Amino acid sequence: MHLKLRGHHERIDVIARSEGDLDCRGNPPSQVTHHRIAPTSRGMYQFDISAGSKADLYRDLLSALDALTADEPDAIANMANASALIWEYLPDLNWAGFYRLIGDELVLGPFQGKAACIRIALGKGVCGTAATTRTTQLVEDVHAFPGHIACDAASRSELVVPIVRDGVLVGVLDLDSPEPARFDAEDAAGCEALAALLATRTL
Ligand code: SME
Repeated sequence: MHLKLRGHHERIDVIARSEGDLDCRGNPPSQVTHHRIAPTSRGMYQFDISAGSKADLYRDLLSALDALTADEPDAIANMANASALIWEYLPDLNWAGFYRLIGDELVLGPFQGKAACIRIALGKGVCGTAATTRTTQLVEDVHAFPGHIACDAASRSELVVPIVRDGVLVGVLDLDSPEPARFDAEDAAGCEALAALLATRTL
């Protein structure tokens, strides 16, 4: 049985497991909580994500992502879980995911949300700008950003963070919101920390 006590962006603290269930690695579930996340039964993780301040939320997200990706070097798997975590716990998003640098363009990676543009040229749109400048793009009003690429007409604000490993651009983390000015400096710092961690887990 899998019980989720409260909804989106709130603490989840009860997951009851059936006798005999195994964890994601096929082992009996451990009673020990590593970091703030522990495999509980097949395919289920218990996250302990704060519903308090934004700083607490990003601290817990980083800890959960660290635990989720610690033993897994595959970039697609880790980006997929990262997009799922972000989508579940950051409120007011209509898209959360990744574009990977392949050759000389950005190619759609794991994401949550509506189907999106597949390839973005470097320097184009918010993602291409973040990639070429290697700087976080915090866009309060996407309609005011020259060259913004609208994958979902509902998007009003956007945050794009470059992912750089050993001086080499790996891709970008892209968040969209239907709320104007949804993202602030704390979101940028929090997502930069997530991107810095992922850069080391995308081999
Ligand atoms: N808005 C982005 C395109 C990607 S989607 O938002 C998923 C951009 O301007 O680069």
